[in-house]
Amino acid sequence: MIQEIPVARLNVEEFINTQIAAIRQAVGDGLAVNALSGGVDSSVVTLLGHRALGERLKTYFIDTGLMRQGEPEWVVGLFARLGVRVELVPAQEEFFTALRGLTDPEAKREAITQTFYRKVFGRLVRESGARFLLHGTNYTDVEETVAGVKRQHNILEQLGIDTQKEFGYRVLEPLVQLRKTGVRMVARALGLPREITERPPFPGPALAARVIGEVTPERIALVRQATAIVEEELADSGAFQYLAILHQDMVTGIREGKRQFGYQIEVRSWESSDAVIAEPSRLPWEKLLRIAKRITTEVPGVVSVTYNIASKPPSTIEAV
Ligand code: XMP
Repeated sequence: MIQEIPVARLNVEEFINTQIAAIRQAVGDGLAVNALSGGVDSSVVTLLGHRALGERLKTYFIDTGLMRQGEPEWVVGLFARLGVRVELVPAQEEFFTALRGLTDPEAKREAITQTFYRKVFGRLVRESGARFLLHGTNYTDVEETVAGVKRQHNILEQLGIDTQKEFGYRVLEPLVQLRKTGVRMVARALGLPREITERPPFPGPALAARVIGEVTPERIALVRQATAIVEEELADSGAFQYLAILHQDMVTGIREGKRQFGYQIEVRSWESSDAVIAEPSRLPWEKLLRIAKRITTEVPGVVSVTYNIASKPPSTIEAV
């Protein structure tokens, strides 16, 4: 069982040095790859890996087609300014093909895992000759997956998956003993900019975790637009996480005097410290009305906007 390092016992400099040494020792004079999403976990792993291996680590941004507006270019540009070259890998078709027709949440998560680790990473590892994948799994991810709450898309070995046998590479998880607060402390010490260190969490399955029912390019486009509005409106709210969800059911609305059978968007905003338990934010009514107004006018076909007022548990932060 993995030993957690609680923040009270975390010596950040020592942690960084230990992890760099461990990566160097494991990889030897070989090559490693990692996927950067722009979240704090994968950003920290990218910097630790580059400090440990330099050019012997190849960093990829996998464009799954499920990311937020402008995200691939933003992440690649930001890391270029930090001196880290990130290769953009277009994989939209592979992900949408794998997700076609799936509506069950765990089946969707499994399809994303398989596409990510078997197809896309299997290929990248083969092409690059790497034998290791560096991965940003943290302690909470492991805990929730092992407890059977949700299958976090990035958990492999803890579920008994032999990555060497299944996918042809070994996984190194330098952050597996830390929770998010600890990861953010390490991020600051590594000199990552605030846009990354204070970034609200975003799930590995990306916007697919926010589409109830089938994930198609069209439905992702809707939730992407709604997400951009919610993120813009709540950027200064201080909430832990805020998001938009596209419902599967459609409802009758009215636009310009005509019936419109349209989409429903659910807005969620969470107060939490570690995502394990969470409360809905007490947002000002005026703010909620403004978000609803913008979503129904700016996102085509949306006729209903709701705000989630349930806590986690029994709710979860994402909808899928
Ligand atoms: P839930 O929805 O389980 O989310 O309450 C808890 C926290 O984890 C994020 N999340 C994920 N992160 N891979 C990740 O790396 C995943 O598959 C995943 N699913 C949820 C979620 O955004 C929240 O911060």
